[in-house]
Amino acid sequence: TTDPLVLGIETSCDETGVGIVRGTTLLANVIASSMDEHARYGGVVPEVAARAHLEAMTPTLHEALEQAGVTLDELDAVAVTAGPGLAGALMVGVGAAKALAVATGKPLYGVNHLVGHVGADVLRADDSAIELPTVALLVSGGHTSLLLVRDLVGDVELLGETIDDAAGEAFDKVARLLGLPYPGGPQIDRAAADGDPRAIRFPRGLTLPKDMAQHRYDFSFSGLKTAVARWVEKCRDEGREVPVADVAASFREAVVDVLLTKALAACRDTGVDRLLLGGGVVANARLRAVAEERCAAAGVALRIPPFDLCTDNGAMIAAVGARLVAEGHAPSDLGFAADSTLPV
Ligand code: KG4
Ligand code: ZN
Repeated sequence: TTDPLVLGIETSCDETGVGIVRGTTLLANVIASSMDEHARYGGVVPEVAARAHLEAMTPTLHEALEQAGVTLDELDAVAVTAGPGLAGALMVGVGAAKALAVATGKPLYGVNHLVGHVGADVLRADDSAIELPTVALLVSGGHTSLLLVRDLVGDVELLGETIDDAAGEAFDKVARLLGLPYPGGPQIDRAAADGDPRAIRFPRGLTLPKDMAQHRYDFSFSGLKTAVARWVEKCRDEGREVPVADVAASFREAVVDVLLTKALAACRDTGVDRLLLGGGVVANARLRAVAEERCAAAGVALRIPPFDLCTDNGAMIAAVGARLVAEGHAPSDLGFAADSTLPV
């Protein structure tokens, strides 16, 4: 038997992604981002994202087929992000995938976006297989989730998630407070390099003992964002210059501390000594450094997929699709709808 050739479509946020895989081998990964169009609003605007997907879908699809050197006829299946994500954005991808499936007669598989982030890891070039079970920390502009993955297909448990802002969203909002452009993550990362992470003790959301009892694996970043806003305001009221580097470094430290405290608590509680990171915030230099330090100290094996597989992409969706095909799962009913709150 040959590994299934699967095309995956991802449109849950601002990236139009089309990827093609053969089993666990990456053949194409093409991404068109509408990020620039959202820059002046300081965050992703759903209507703008949906419209951009519509415009980018066909050229992205053609480019992926060309990159992989395959034709639609050769595909074994089409996979698409069914949710969670922005409703209008998801609908464009699901609509395109259904049209492809109907036109070519290929089976269609709806894939959960978060499972896709975990599945991305099987596409790494070094071919070292993902070992399960693993705890997965997914951090991006749209989600902040802690998962326990026993099996990529059918056994993924959501341990916790953000109850307000996503981690990347917090970076974007705090950057804006500091007068830095969108997207804020890389800007804060850069500014923080010259700052003192201990200059200001910003709050660590949901880490008090009572919170750890009720929201052990959940995250909250809105209180942190407010604390930074107050701090900046106070500087301005007092006529002092805002120490941007120190604020950026202290804020970044608070986010990274909470993310890894909870991820490693999950490893400890579940007895799982593997941690996988995913999502655009994985680009954060401090997050990677502290993850390495703390995982080494706790005897936890840390896995970080290559960066272009960490951010939203179609290849990760294709990878999960290929797994579904290989294991003989039934395709989705063509009548299925995108679900902006799809559970894992
Ligand atoms: O996964 P991703 O590319 O897509 C969406 O969520 O749409 O993640 C983008 C998010 C943005 O919020 C951005 O500010 C954040 O990831 N980000 C970072 C860094 N690079 C990107 N956050 C912190 N540090 C970074 N170096
Ligand atoms: Zn994502």
